[in-house]
Amino acid sequence: MSSSKTLRVFDTAEQVADAAAGQFIELANSATTNRGRFAVALAGGNSPRRMYDLLAEDQLRNRVDWAAVHLFFGDERCVPRDHPDSNYRMVREALISRVDVPDANVYPINGDAEPATNAALYETNLREFFPEALAPVFDMVLLGLGEDGHTASLFPETSALRVTDKWVVANWVEKLAAYRITLTPAAINGAAQVTFLVTGANKASAVRAVLEGPLQPENLPAQLIKPETGILTWLLDSQAASKLSKH
Ligand code: 6PG
Repeated sequence: MSSSKTLRVFDTAEQVADAAAGQFIELANSATTNRGRFAVALAGGNSPRRMYDLLAEDQLRNRVDWAAVHLFFGDERCVPRDHPDSNYRMVREALISRVDVPDANVYPINGDAEPATNAALYETNLREFFPEALAPVFDMVLLGLGEDGHTASLFPETSALRVTDKWVVANWVEKLAAYRITLTPAAINGAAQVTFLVTGANKASAVRAVLEGPLQPENLPAQLIKPETGILTWLLDSQAASKLSKH
């Protein structure tokens, strides 16, 4: 892991969600003030849901200029948008349907057709949003961590880990017997801020392996996340951090 990272450990998952929501608000307001827009790639799965809930609740919702927010996704399952496994569906229920973000500012990854076509389409969308860029410069990328050390849909020993000339790929995941569509490491590492949100005792071994174990990104793809010029932050609860040697 690169040394330039910040670890913040909180007692509870609720405190992690609150800290992540606070960072989202701070980055959104800074980007909106300085550049007139805030581009964020959101994580799927269960861990970030409470953060999204908090952002949509009264006391926080009004602290963001949602008209300037552009919501992207770090990855998506290859299912329809209304499928229970859809990351878009989860974010729509927890956040999008509860705040005034314009429909045109929400960029779902299409999951219900040919994966490679959908990946190429999403890359086109990103290249239109970030023209002339060598990599997308998201103001924030939010990531989770799987028990196997995957992040986004960068799973161990999958082809996406080695892609350097694309920003979005369709990634066959043998263990799932399914395609996923995911940002590539290069697309994530162009971000100004990358934040891992990881909670629960079941993630403690993966957290220790990724942060303190030997460098083995083929087996621990989260080790590929090293922002080129941006900031890397890990937001952990005490359970997820419990196997770290120092925290
Ligand atoms: C997804 C996510 C994935 C997730 C991890 C952790 O599409 O599922 O992008 O990388 O962040 O699998 O998932 P949980 O938060 O549900 O433990």
